[in-house]
Amino acid sequence: MIKYTQIFQGTAFTSTSPKEVEVLTNYLFCINADGIIEKIVAPSDADYQPLLDAYEGKENFHRLAEGQYFLPGFVDLHVHAPQWAQSGTALDIPLYDWLNTYTFPIEAKFSDLDFAKDVYQDVVSTLLANGTTTALYFATVHKEASLLLAEICAEKGQRGLVGKVVMDDAEQNPTFYRDASTQTALADTEEFILAVKELAKSTKQGVYPVVTPRFIPSCTDDALKGLGELASKHDTYVQSHCSESDWAHGYVQDRFGKNDAFALHDFGLLSDKSVMAHCNFLDDDDADLFAKTGTAVCHCPISNAYFANSVVPIAHLQSKGVEIGLGSDISGGFSPSLFDNVRQAVMSSRMLEDGVNTALPAAERGVQNSRITINEAFYLATAGGGESLSLPIGRLAQNYTWDVQIIDTKLATAKLPIFDAQEDLHDIFQKIMYLARPENIREVWIQGEKVHARK
Ligand code: GUN
Ligand code: FE
Repeated sequence: MIKYTQIFQGTAFTSTSPKEVEVLTNYLFCINADGIIEKIVAPSDADYQPLLDAYEGKENFHRLAEGQYFLPGFVDLHVHAPQWAQSGTALDIPLYDWLNTYTFPIEAKFSDLDFAKDVYQDVVSTLLANGTTTALYFATVHKEASLLLAEICAEKGQRGLVGKVVMDDAEQNPTFYRDASTQTALADTEEFILAVKELAKSTKQGVYPVVTPRFIPSCTDDALKGLGELASKHDTYVQSHCSESDWAHGYVQDRFGKNDAFALHDFGLLSDKSVMAHCNFLDDDDADLFAKTGTAVCHCPISNAYFANSVVPIAHLQSKGVEIGLGSDISGGFSPSLFDNVRQAVMSSRMLEDGVNTALPAAERGVQNSRITINEAFYLATAGGGESLSLPIGRLAQNYTWDVQIIDTKLATAKLPIFDAQEDLHDIFQKIMYLARPENIREVWIQGEKVHARK
């Protein structure tokens, strides 16, 4: 019999397609030394009992208690790690004012590595405690502090994809917070890429450098072109904000006479390894370009309610073949929880479908076929995120990483309303998705390692 590093026994929920969630009732998950799910064994399989006989009672055998379930760890495709320091504040003003009055001043403080360490340690731990096992981060313009964030992810066991932010346009950015010049922005980005690649060599779960033009309005043409070249030279991920609000979308149209998608493409910034946040104002040609280049959309539904002047037509983008994942957009979105964002994604889509202005007749109020289900929103937070990053994460299936959250529905202080011992497991799944709180997340594992346990 093959030796496994660990075996877990319990009931799991995992997406098999954007619309379908599969229940794996009382399965065995056999994990190898690399933290990969080497085999999944159903109770009806011939080797189920022999495996139980061989491993039960051993230190590396883990059986879930009654009322506990496995969910895949969440993939948060858009987090501004420094903005954790202002989460929940200043949400009552438009994007442009929010950036200039609150956000750039707080990000400027990350030149101080002690301050950066405090905030970055806390945001990584908080995301882990909320079930986020992979995060795609914007840091700040500072090379050293950005590298510190990657080191903290590596140390705490989170799979972190981290970008040093580029904002080099002296006309558009404040003197107290921008790259000193286009040359230093590009040189710092390249040094950062090499340093993170070096760090990755000793990091089991992976850390990855990300080329990160903040958004077109903050970058010169030369920087955007240089960043496209660096991404291609070093084969890195790329992230930015794309067509987020009326103002941001309009700015790019005025500057280039085209939408963000095509402008970013002209600079070599759209590829299979690109993730663009928001994308509220994507038109059909933009969506086709995303599908063709393999560029993913990161949907940030809580943030959009404040800053995007709109609800993204997620169902429509999906029908166009665009890859989509979910993001918290801390702190444009106030919550570090993708559970909260899954819920908001469903609710926003329902409001888009029905419309909100009762002065209009019902038939004219909304946008048909816009709703997404809780299963679809769960897919965005898990498998959709994994596909967006082209990594084997976000599903509990063979050859995927063992990245899981263990949900306890019977916790005395946060009990879910489950009263029937025979309740349908799809209903229990829905209760978890709508009602689970951070207390219900008892343990989090990444790449086969326990990275969080709630006391
Ligand atoms: N556009 C440019 N920067 C930002 C940011 O920090 N947050 C959001 N939501 N949009 C942006
Ligand atoms: Fe953002």
